[in-house]
Amino acid sequence: MNTPDWKALRQEFPTLRNWIYLDSARKSIPPRCQALAMEAYTRDVYENAGADAWAATNVAETRALLAEVLGAKPGELAFTRNTTDGLNIAAHGFELKPGDNIVLTDMEHMANVWVWKHWEAKGVEIRHARNRGGRLPLEAFRERIDGRTRVVSTAYVTYGNGCRVDLPELGALCRSRGIRLVVDGVQGAGILAAPLSALNADVVAIGGHKGLFGLTGSGIVYCREDLVDELKTSFVRPPEAANAPRAKAHAISQFDYVRTAHRFEAGNPNFLGIRVLRAGAEFLRSIGLQQIENRVRDLTSACLRLLDAAGLETRTPAEWRERAQIVNVVVPDAAGLMDRLREKHRVVVNVKDDALRLSVSFCNTKEDIEKAVSAIRAEMSHRTAAAA
Ligand SMILES: Cc1ncc(COP(=O)(O)O)c(C=O)c1O
Repeated sequence: MNTPDWKALRQEFPTLRNWIYLDSARKSIPPRCQALAMEAYTRDVYENAGADAWAATNVAETRALLAEVLGAKPGELAFTRNTTDGLNIAAHGFELKPGDNIVLTDMEHMANVWVWKHWEAKGVEIRHARNRGGRLPLEAFRERIDGRTRVVSTAYVTYGNGCRVDLPELGALCRSRGIRLVVDGVQGAGILAAPLSALNADVVAIGGHKGLFGLTGSGIVYCREDLVDELKTSFVRPPEAANAPRAKAHAISQFDYVRTAHRFEAGNPNFLGIRVLRAGAEFLRSIGLQQIENRVRDLTSACLRLLDAAGLETRTPAEWRERAQIVNVVVPDAAGLMDRLREKHRVVVNVKDDALRLSVSFCNTKEDIEKAVSAIRAEMSHRTAAAA
């Protein structure tokens, strides 16, 4: 495995000329290929009346490319609007009965809470696996699962402290008990190298604007091949291309829908968003997901060491197998500190669950992290001095 030229790759991100950007878990900054893809789209509409921009073949090729990069079959991927959209497809797709239960975790993003809420009015209980000091080991799920559990829905990597769930292990447990595993995969996709097909998940929802380097308003949902038929959906997509005689609405039964995950799509796709997703997937493929994962592991490990040396507290698990690109820092008035870091030091971070959240991408360097941690230290000492 040749090491990518990280220095050259960093040049692909114009934002980094002006900012120390450690907020990729919110939105990834656009690499230049994103701008080029948008320009090419517009140019084609102006000069070619959209022959390429609106071509169904581009959509099919992008699906195939994403399947290759993320380790799935093209028929298992549907284009969506975002993570929430994908989770919503799953949350309305199962037939549950009063007395059944759904297990979430107590560290979910709101998106993976609210999509399930409608079940409560139908007599289905929603339970939460409880974290152990910021970790979600198998035991946390096992103790909440019982004979009436039908679905477990969890983040791959939690949005706050960046705890990574061992999905293959959890998926095996779920499968052995006939439980469906739904995953909010947006904080892992494009960063962790394991193929989607190896996660033992039934559904994985992924927004496009983080690790996949797409636009907001674009995303994909993975649905395991043999589950596609079982999920209920309000969408009905004809089984053939739009101009095929069988696809004419009056000629077929509404139940004769397409037998792949494409059935979760309806109407015109987001052609521009899909074109950008394609550029992002080509970019990821040119670097290699294993290389990206290794780089993110090294950067976040350096970050944890620096925080420790500075005496700063984190709730991010120490072991790489239990974390990913996110490291949090527990400080008083995290929101005030975030603003100071941005205004005074040009360091962009976020605040989640009252803690500062730093999230890295392969385009970051160890220097970015050193600068951010020393800016945090400087601001903390400034506060101490002001309080004295
Ligand atoms: C873990 C997680 N799930 C869901 C979301 C919401 O994603 P989307 O806007 O793609 O629906 C986010 C962040 O934005 C997130 O971090």
